[in-house]
Amino acid sequence: MNILILGAGGREHAFALKLSESKKIKQLFVAPGNAGTGKIAINVNINPTDFEAVKETVLKNNIQMVVVGPEAPLVNGVHDFFLADTDLKSIPVIGPKKDGALLEGSKDFSKQFMQKHGIPTARYQSFTKENLKEGFTFLETLTPPYVLKADGLAGGKGVLILTDLAEAKAELEEMVSNEKFGTASATVVIEEFLKGIELSVFVLTDGNSYKILPSAKDYKRIGEGDVGLNTGGMGAISPVPFADNAFLDKVESLVVKPTISGLKKDGIDYRGFIFIGLMNDAGNPSVVEYNVRMGDPETEAVLPRIESDLYDLFEGVAKQTLHEKSFSVNPKTATTVMLVAGGYPEAYQKGKEITGFKNTEDSVVFHAGTKIENDKVVSNGGRVMAVTSFGNSIEEALAKTYATIEKIQFEDMNYRKDIGFDLV
Ligand code: AMP
Ligand code: GLY
Repeated sequence: MNILILGAGGREHAFALKLSESKKIKQLFVAPGNAGTGKIAINVNINPTDFEAVKETVLKNNIQMVVVGPEAPLVNGVHDFFLADTDLKSIPVIGPKKDGALLEGSKDFSKQFMQKHGIPTARYQSFTKENLKEGFTFLETLTPPYVLKADGLAGGKGVLILTDLAEAKAELEEMVSNEKFGTASATVVIEEFLKGIELSVFVLTDGNSYKILPSAKDYKRIGEGDVGLNTGGMGAISPVPFADNAFLDKVESLVVKPTISGLKKDGIDYRGFIFIGLMNDAGNPSVVEYNVRMGDPETEAVLPRIESDLYDLFEGVAKQTLHEKSFSVNPKTATTVMLVAGGYPEAYQKGKEITGFKNTEDSVVFHAGTKIENDKVVSNGGRVMAVTSFGNSIEEALAKTYATIEKIQFEDMNYRKDIGFDLV
């Protein structure tokens, strides 16, 4: 069995490492991959949204399954492309078709879906430039802070949280009338602000049954104490102490079950991951967002905890036999800290040589934005590497992670020294 993973980040390195443990897999390919995936798989330098190039790669290398890492190929319809092609249609794709990917591709669609299926989420309304005035009126009915979300994909930047009403109105106008986030903000979801602490819950489904994978907490802001600009994610902890069995039971009955049955009722044959961003408000879950993929860096904390063969679960998704599968989870805590380029998430430099990441037996070092240049590993993105360690407690795991980070060097390297601060 040859498998192709689409994507290039720490998440894809974590997928590749986990799948490389499977006895059923002969050869792994990652497109385009990074310096880390290149060590355990064959990197193919194509763009995962170039479906003709994906097709050529699949046919040339006798690929028998495709695992999609990021959202863009899914939202653009890579799974539909496979189903519509006579040469590709029998090759399973782990990831939803376009209709299911709308859960992430359109905030308005996902809010309508939640409302229709009684899934707890913040009260909302959607607006375009045609009904901008009504948007102003709706804002007046809310108490600050105001949450404005571009309907479409905006590279994680499309959510604004504002405390001032006049500013919220001005930003709404910028979004819908002046295309602040391009066509992604032609429609804007305005919703109530949710209080509480956030959590990422991961579900794998074959369209009928599902498995809830270990949950994780992500640290999105660049600054310690959760301040400053939003990033792709600066670190993750799994499991999350406040997500105890009682809370996760509520998540399953109030969110996961109605999501899976809602997709089925709506005729959406969904096969892949669902990442549920949740707010825990005094023990009650409320959905902040759906993503149609795994989280990054959550994957780097979650997948190392899964002790069984990940391919076996993917086979269950592909053959719709997930209900027959089981998996086991390491009860220890995994902590992940991202090493980023100085300046990220604003302007930053690439091409910095990275050293000291090899002799790190107490941790797993996942490559994110890295590549090989003149036989050296150099930075090639804002998020450069993710360091994961296990411990009997968050503190113990973090101590190992930070000790490993001490050994790694590249110019202007930055990372948060307080990952997990709110959980210990
Ligand atoms: P999203 O892209 O929907 O995940 O939003 C980005 C981040 O904004 C989330 O991870 C939350 O931290 C925050 N956020 C989004 N919606 C809300 C809300 N209704 N209330 C509070 N915070 C929110
Ligand atoms: N870590 C958040 C995300 O992957 O969207």
